[in-house]
Amino acid sequence: MGFPKNRMRRLRSSPAMRRLVRQTRVSVNDLVYPLFVREGEGIEKPIKSMTGCYQFSPDTIGSQAVEVASLEIPAVLLFGLPDKKDEIGSEAWAENGVVQRAIRQIKKAAPELLVITDVCLCEFTSHGHCGVIENGKVDNDSTCELLAKTALSHAQAGADIVAPSDMMDGRVKYIREALEENGFENVAIMSYAAKYASAFYGPFRDAAESAPAFGDRRAYQMDPPNADEAMAEIALDIEEGADIVMVKPALAYLDIIYRARQRFDCPIAAYNVSGEYMMVNVAGAEGLVDKQAIMMEVLTSIKRAGADIIITYFAKELAKLL
Ligand code: PBG
Repeated sequence: MGFPKNRMRRLRSSPAMRRLVRQTRVSVNDLVYPLFVREGEGIEKPIKSMTGCYQFSPDTIGSQAVEVASLEIPAVLLFGLPDKKDEIGSEAWAENGVVQRAIRQIKKAAPELLVITDVCLCEFTSHGHCGVIENGKVDNDSTCELLAKTALSHAQAGADIVAPSDMMDGRVKYIREALEENGFENVAIMSYAAKYASAFYGPFRDAAESAPAFGDRRAYQMDPPNADEAMAEIALDIEEGADIVMVKPALAYLDIIYRARQRFDCPIAAYNVSGEYMMVNVAGAEGLVDKQAIMMEVLTSIKRAGADIIITYFAKELAKLL
């Protein structure tokens, strides 16, 4: 062993050689594209805080779904913005709520496209928190019941995968039971298992109009310095019936993705969140970096860390490039 017998540069000597020995490849099959649907008609409204992203209404989301499916992206992740918000977020589980109608439209327009729904109350509550407020705090168990109702209503509308993003304890169990009891045993759960209280969600809160009216989410989302706790969260969600577990955000948490990959056997998803997306876009627009190259490098790093599934606002752009 050693120089000059070993020259590491031999295998980097040409594009074909590099292609041959390349270990990690991001594929269109790995991608999930988030979509925002809001109450109304004929809406295709650019989201100011998120370059290239739009809010759709239920009647326009079908053609967007067709476009996503034609790029061979396997799945979309749906977020809803209702007209009416209340204390408990009751539009979240309304049979003809904005998400439920959008699911039906997408399924009609692009039946092969998987519909994943974000299951959370923050877009539906008047106070913007992810659950029911009791004595100034988000109450865990009563929130879980409402999340289970919401997930069930998504399944009834045709969702393939429900994705709770609230970080209540036990919500996967509540959701799994509700699905089982109502004949939706084949609906999968992708839990936001290790979701950190992150400043990287900034641009999204504009897109989903879901910023909390008071306080923050630190009493339910995870504290960024903690890593072992993420393993405990993931283990619990798998035990409660999650089929896919997610780490979120992705880029500042690659160590968490890596550790989860070493330790668990189920598919691992990573959410390349709005702030990560916009840092690349803004730096690119300023001419400071090569945006496409940075996009590839970022997404490759998430895959290399061990993610099987990457949820990203870059999905369409990447699919066109590959
Ligand atoms: C809702 C939810 C959020 C995101 C996904 N689901 C916001 C939050 O928790 O504050 C963030 C997505 C992104 O930033 O791209 N609970």
